[in-house]
Amino acid sequence: MQSVAEYLKKKEKYFMAQARHQLYKEPLIVEKGYMEYLYDIEGKEYLDCFSGIMVTNCGHCNPEINKKAKEQLDKLQHTSTFFLTRPLLDLSEKLAEITPFGLERSFFVNSGSEAVDSAILLARKYTGNELVIPVKLGYHGRTLLVSSCTTSSTYNGLDPAIDELDILFGYNGYCYRCHFGLEYPDCNLRCVQALEEAIEKMNSKIAAILVEPIQGVGGVIVHPPGYLEALQAIAHKYGGLLIIDEVQSGFGRTGAMFATSEGKVSPDILCMGKGIANGLPMGAYIATDKVGEAIDWPTFSTFGGNPLCSAVALATIDYIVEHQLPARAKKSEALFKQGLTEIAKESRLVGEIRGKGLFLAMELVRDQESKEPATEETLELLNECKINGLVVGKSGPFSNVVRVGPPLTISEEQIATALEILEKSLKAVEKRSASKHLA
Ligand SMILES: Cc1ncc(COP(=O)(O)O)c(C=O)c1O
Repeated sequence: MQSVAEYLKKKEKYFMAQARHQLYKEPLIVEKGYMEYLYDIEGKEYLDCFSGIMVTNCGHCNPEINKKAKEQLDKLQHTSTFFLTRPLLDLSEKLAEITPFGLERSFFVNSGSEAVDSAILLARKYTGNELVIPVKLGYHGRTLLVSSCTTSSTYNGLDPAIDELDILFGYNGYCYRCHFGLEYPDCNLRCVQALEEAIEKMNSKIAAILVEPIQGVGGVIVHPPGYLEALQAIAHKYGGLLIIDEVQSGFGRTGAMFATSEGKVSPDILCMGKGIANGLPMGAYIATDKVGEAIDWPTFSTFGGNPLCSAVALATIDYIVEHQLPARAKKSEALFKQGLTEIAKESRLVGEIRGKGLFLAMELVRDQESKEPATEETLELLNECKINGLVVGKSGPFSNVVRVGPPLTISEEQIATALEILEKSLKAVEKRSASKHLA
């Protein structure tokens, strides 16, 4: 019988090399998933604390959702947006109901990237201005337009010098590594002031400021209080819109349906993806009525809002609401943070624990003072967790941020197991790294 290694060797060469092995030294080949668990092709079980990059908020192959998916698959699978369907119309209404107040008009595409790309087009058309200002370490996807809004050279393949173009990119609220060496709140949000000064200098009107409420790929960066509100004020002052990218933070992930649900900022356009259909490919944006009507030429998407994905998105939202997943995520946040804080007390590698809801992270550093990123150790930790049956993610400009983002359905018992594995794995990595550095 062919071994897994032989099987992999034979097949792997046909899949683009740079799209493989990002989390592990050896790839994890997943055969099936059920709720909070994944199973590899040899049948080994993993507790999944990454949810396919924050997508399966309701668990893998959730039977309640999949029942509705199967019903829809046998009824109507595809039409294109040249036709209207009940799932598409019902989902549009539902999104207006669950997104922050004032957002009303949706458009559907196939991915988060396309959602943000389309939102930029809309903002340019509405304002008549060209300039879109993303912030440093933001990630918005892989179309040509949105990859140029990404400063992370890991994921846009562009010249890392792009990060130096302060005029095009605002500062993010990365307080752990403040761009100005300041501390909140004494900083008076210097990051935002610096952006305004740059816009003033350019003497140009803008189309939009584009920002994630929590930067996922950038390293689970939670901007400080008041940051998003201040960006909104600047966007409007200079003739632009505020585009909030909730592709990763939406659908219950942060302990509310959306990170901006709490009403302090009101996006002009909000982008969605990932968790919207619990794993089926879908992206969308929703805009205020006035902004949403700015596109005045015929537009369509072949697969966007197709009946299957729309029906599954509706089933996903129903599941999130009925099972009170945002409240559950908030409760789980407290348990995780308490456990991670205990782990950090015993560890020399944990620099900071941060995040909201079940959008959590630990930044690993070799030295608490210099904050030298523990990049190698982070990769080691992910591998060790994998050996011990736990999947977690990683991100950040130095790939030294361990990401914890399980399905929102995770139980207290499973959280305890995840913490136990993390602790054990971190200890093993620390031991190895100490002996390596002493050697
Ligand atoms: C905040 C954010 N926006 C947009 C995207 C792009 O979404 P997709 O990979 O579905 O194109 C991502 C993907 O990670 C994301 O995290």
